[in-house]
Amino acid sequence: MPDYPETEKFDDPVNRRQFFLKLGLGSLGIAAAGTVAFAYQYLEPNVLYEPSPVVNVGRPERYELNSVMLDVNSGIYIIHSQEGFFSLSAVCTHLGCLTTWQPEINVITCPCHGSKFNREGAVMDGPAPKPLPWLKMWMSDDGELMVDRATKVAPEKEYVRA
Ligand code: FES
Repeated sequence: MPDYPETEKFDDPVNRRQFFLKLGLGSLGIAAAGTVAFAYQYLEPNVLYEPSPVVNVGRPERYELNSVMLDVNSGIYIIHSQEGFFSLSAVCTHLGCLTTWQPEINVITCPCHGSKFNREGAVMDGPAPKPLPWLKMWMSDDGELMVDRATKVAPEKEYVRA
């Protein structure tokens, strides 16, 4: 019979007991960790963190008179007209595609189904059912133009003057 070291003998009741003790403690540790993880998830507020709808679009000098600038990241237009500054949503009111400004024909167009809007957002050609909404715009205390993408305002009433 080979001479096994003391720890490798399978019929040793002390080693077997220690093995099952460690296995049991390990299982309890895993179960405790799972419980703590679920408790933490339960206690953490179930909130969807989204970026603020308020966008700083910079100083008024950035926008030439009679210009229409598309801010692709925010999905808005900043328009500097004779009456002042205003902002339109650039999201088409048909099925939500991002529109583009076509300076050569002075029209905002939708690449998806061909809707056309004038510079004030009014529908010139369908299938868009509604005009592009005007968005709340104001001048911050620091002299920067701010737009709230979540707040619509009445068209042609809220110009910001620099
Ligand atoms: S999504 Fe703009 S015309 Fe259809």
